[in-house]
Amino acid sequence: MSIITHMTRTWLTRSFRPFRFRSEYDEVLPYGECENLGLYVHIPFCGSICDFCPYCKVQYDRATCDRYIDALLKEIRMVGGQYPGKKTVTSLYFGGGTPALAADRLGEIIDAINEHFTITEGIGLELHPDNVKPAILRKMKAAGVTKISIGIQSFSGRYQSILGRAAVDPEALREALAEVGFETVSMDFIFALPGQTFEDLRADIDEAFRIGANHVAIYPFIDFTFTKSTVKTMPKKQKRALLDRITKYCAAKGYNRSTIWTFSSEANARYSSMTRDNFLGFGCSATTLLKEQFKINTFSVDAYCERIAQQKLPTSLTTRFTRRQRMVYYLFWTAYSTKVDPAAFERFFGVPLRKMYGFELWFAKLLGFVEVRDGVYSMTLKGAFYYHYYENFYTLAYIDKMWGIMRNEAFPEEIKL
Ligand SMILES: C[S@@+](CC[C@H](N)C(=O)[O-])C[C@H]1O[C@@H](n2cnc3c(N)ncnc32)[C@H](O)[C@@H]1O
Ligand code: SF4
Repeated sequence: MSIITHMTRTWLTRSFRPFRFRSEYDEVLPYGECENLGLYVHIPFCGSICDFCPYCKVQYDRATCDRYIDALLKEIRMVGGQYPGKKTVTSLYFGGGTPALAADRLGEIIDAINEHFTITEGIGLELHPDNVKPAILRKMKAAGVTKISIGIQSFSGRYQSILGRAAVDPEALREALAEVGFETVSMDFIFALPGQTFEDLRADIDEAFRIGANHVAIYPFIDFTFTKSTVKTMPKKQKRALLDRITKYCAAKGYNRSTIWTFSSEANARYSSMTRDNFLGFGCSATTLLKEQFKINTFSVDAYCERIAQQKLPTSLTTRFTRRQRMVYYLFWTAYSTKVDPAAFERFFGVPLRKMYGFELWFAKLLGFVEVRDGVYSMTLKGAFYYHYYENFYTLAYIDKMWGIMRNEAFPEEIKL
């Protein structure tokens, strides 16, 4: 593990204790009292597999997808039925893989969710550009989807071929999106690809807003060790210059920075499945974050279906937090929204943020990473870059290791991070 993430974790949790994930789980998940709870559903199928992609996915075939969705409906009902009545949740996000491939069965999944939960802030779903067709969009809208996110990666043929993806036709997307509207239309881009310039990235963002997006996500390219990708990563200095310039460009255009990597042209356009205090995840590889625990489902589609057939939860690993570990987890993901509100922290933990992390906040202010606006800690441009930089370390030290193991073992005994 990287020495940086190890030292930071030890300092912030005030303990040498690692995050220890074990092969055990609660049969009844303690989400009944959780406020600000979100839902996530994972659909692990893709039309074709991209070499650079770390997510849990397999090649689509109709029969496996149907078998998986039958199991998914059971998992939703198994967990949702653990408490009487309907639990209020903020949002439901479908991620993948390519969930739009299951457009025909989306209505069934959302109905199962609606039996046990009341969603207050809409339903989001990820699409591949190939799925952006009026007939598919209409099905999704009829099922209740209000936000969509399209994995463009780049409008430039050059970067698409570096990534091994087919070129995207912006006019076809524009026409389909003009025909079927959604509250949020987000487009994903990958930046910091070899040779990529500010002008390239600006052209992508301008094109996205021109053809109907009101939200864009620009993700830095991450080279996961277990993927087959041969794409080179960009040196730190060049990456920082790119991120700073694009952030300033978006600010000058009046776009709102809703998280570290997302910008919106309209105030109500939002797409983020990450910035929630607690969430329940359904499907392969889906994670669940509750007040005192974090758990992760098996990555294997077959093992997932078998567990469900035995009327058991498909949980592969669970970690139980110390209080400080949960605080660090909370702060890390809340900071992703570029802001940390001390009042929200105190509501969640029942203790003032300054009491727990007063020194760190003072030091972050001194270094110019954060400033206080209306009582809320907001990340500066410099802070956002270093957060992004640290997140990269975290991804490679924790997520890369964990996913690398879990894609080979359906139920590992233990993982220590
Ligand atoms: C599940 S995919 C989106 C939907 C659809 N499967 C597609 O590819 O169009 C989620 C997003 O993760 C991002 N992504 C995947 N691999 C990445 C990597 N190695 N580094 C950075 N971003 C990555 C891409 O922007 C991708 O659109
Ligand atoms: S980037 Fe999207 S389409 Fe490509 S393998 Fe990953 S999830 Fe599938």
